[in-house]
Amino acid sequence: MADVRQPVRESSPASRRGAAGVRAPGRARIGKLTLRTDPWWRTPLAYGLTLGIVGLYLLYAVFINKDYYWEPYISPMYSPCLTANCVANSGWGWFGSIDPVTPALIIIIFPAGLRATCYYYRKAYYRSFFLSPPACAVPEPRNGYKGESKFPLIVQNVHRYFFYITLIFNAILTYDAVIAFRDHQGNWGHMGLGTLVLIVNAALLWLYNLSCHSCRHAVGGRLRHFSKHPVRYWMWSQATRLNAKHAQIAWASLVFVALTDLYVRLVASGTITDPRFF
Ligand code: FES
Repeated sequence: MADVRQPVRESSPASRRGAAGVRAPGRARIGKLTLRTDPWWRTPLAYGLTLGIVGLYLLYAVFINKDYYWEPYISPMYSPCLTANCVANSGWGWFGSIDPVTPALIIIIFPAGLRATCYYYRKAYYRSFFLSPPACAVPEPRNGYKGESKFPLIVQNVHRYFFYITLIFNAILTYDAVIAFRDHQGNWGHMGLGTLVLIVNAALLWLYNLSCHSCRHAVGGRLRHFSKHPVRYWMWSQATRLNAKHAQIAWASLVFVALTDLYVRLVASGTITDPRFF
């Protein structure tokens, strides 16, 4: 049995100096790394590998700067394409060419900011990459703990602003999915596998935003009571139901963004042919 001794009293000198962490005075002394006997390391390892693989692919997509458009399909990584050097017919041309900055690099900061500051992803990457802590009841390797109350992690509080900004991106990607009902010459009334891919991608991104904790607060927060706000209560109830699935939606939408980019890339490069349904 593990050596579990009595905790040191909070009034010890080290405790008064503000020492923190699981090895700090005042915490129970345990002779093992953890008393857990289940394979607790599997989840942070799987999350870390998934984040690493998808993250590396998306980095490649951001910097490769080609094969992101095959009319009418555009990769979500390059939409909206705001620079003058976008592939013909794919861009808005708001800015001049900013070589070597790619069009994706200009816009990626917003969806990436939303994901990086997401309450769910914070849990995932704090555990997988910073081991802080790697799992419940498993101590982190460092002795100090400041949480998110000080710089740099206090910056995570900007999450709600990324939430609002990325709603605009979702609207643009929905528009991209709608115009994907055109054929390669611009005629309406057609649908290919790419159309379906863009629709699913836009739907998952809407679900991701609508299940966000900030969305739940935006529609139902700062009220003294719901009884006089039935519409907001209904919206809050729906957001709450979605919020319970936020982790699953977060993974599905992240992986599908990468798959959508890959699909458009394969079609645009001529590696595969887009099957037409009608
Ligand atoms: S909490 Fe995950 S997107 Fe807001």
